Amino acid sequence: MRPLSDQPTRELAGAARMPVLGLGVWQMAAGGETEQAVEWALEAGYRHIDTASVYRNEQSVGAALRRSGLPREQVFVTTKLMPAHPSAARELAKSLERLSLDYVDLYLIHWPLPLRSARLWRQLESLQERGLARAIGVSNFGRHRLERLMPAASRMPAVDQVQFSPFHYRRRLLDYCLEQGIVFEAYSPLERGKGLQDPKIAAVAARLGRTPAQVMLRWAIQHEAVVIPKSSREERIRSNAQLFDFELADSDMRILDALDRTNASAKARG
Ligand SMILES: NC(=O)c1ccc[n+]([C@@H]2O[C@H](COP(=O)([O-])OP(=O)(O)OC[C@H]3O[C@@H](n4cnc5c(N)ncnc54)[C@H](OP(=O)(O)O)[C@@H]3O)[C@@H](O)[C@H]2O)c1
Repeated sequence: MRPLSDQPTRELAGAARMPVLGLGVWQMAAGGETEQAVEWALEAGYRHIDTASVYRNEQSVGAALRRSGLPREQVFVTTKLMPAHPSAARELAKSLERLSLDYVDLYLIHWPLPLRSARLWRQLESLQERGLARAIGVSNFGRHRLERLMPAASRMPAVDQVQFSPFHYRRRLLDYCLEQGIVFEAYSPLERGKGLQDPKIAAVAARLGRTPAQVMLRWAIQHEAVVIPKSSREERIRSNAQLFDFELADSDMRILDALDRTNASAKARG
């Protein structure tokens, strides 16, 4: 795979550039499983790892980063704050210690807590000013929650990380984020593995000589999302990264767009 400098990236408001492909490490056990997966990913050319304090594997991510010998500035590292904690500064300090890093590239509020988000956001702004997080953002925020944050914010979240796949095609939130200059990051882009059996995706994949996972990830990237598929298996980690030498035609994009279940359930609700 091409090195980071050649891979597509998205520019984060006033801060770092974020590779459009990362490895997600949710539900990887701390220790061997996480270390091995991150090591395989870095060998395969990934330069972006997505963890969180709640995943309890930051230490293993840090160990694999150190062992890789890659210069710090070549790997984009995201971690996330559990919003129940009152002090973002204390929580980020603990995450940095576990990761053995001086800064993270992106620090996210993991999910909205209506009465706390604005106060936490101001704390994140100060962490960014201190250079402890190159960029700051949120996760699991819908449009309404983003709008409610704005009056309290001196800067907009650089990123909103939300569930996004052909089965969770959140077109309106995607459009809103793109309009606002918020990078839209897709978690569970493979629908946690369950979307890969879909016959329409399988048919597109077979016609293009690609895997269903590659087709789902490519779909999200062509909708301008950043993708962070999780796999603990070397072969899948490698093949999930083969995304930059093909494109889905508009007709194939529409086939995947039509799989949206959020739309279907909205229609069913009337
Ligand atoms: N911010 C949030 O609230 C939030 C929530 C959920 C997830 N996330 C982030 O997003 C990342 C990805 O989401 P996710 O872990 O929920 O799900 P995902 O990436 O959509 O799917 C992961 C599942 O797909 C399987 N898989 C991966 N590549 C495959 C392939 N090529 N062929 C067949 N199966 C494949 C994996 O199994 P194997 O490991 O066995 O390959 C795993 O069971 C997480 O790891 C995490 O970093 C964030």
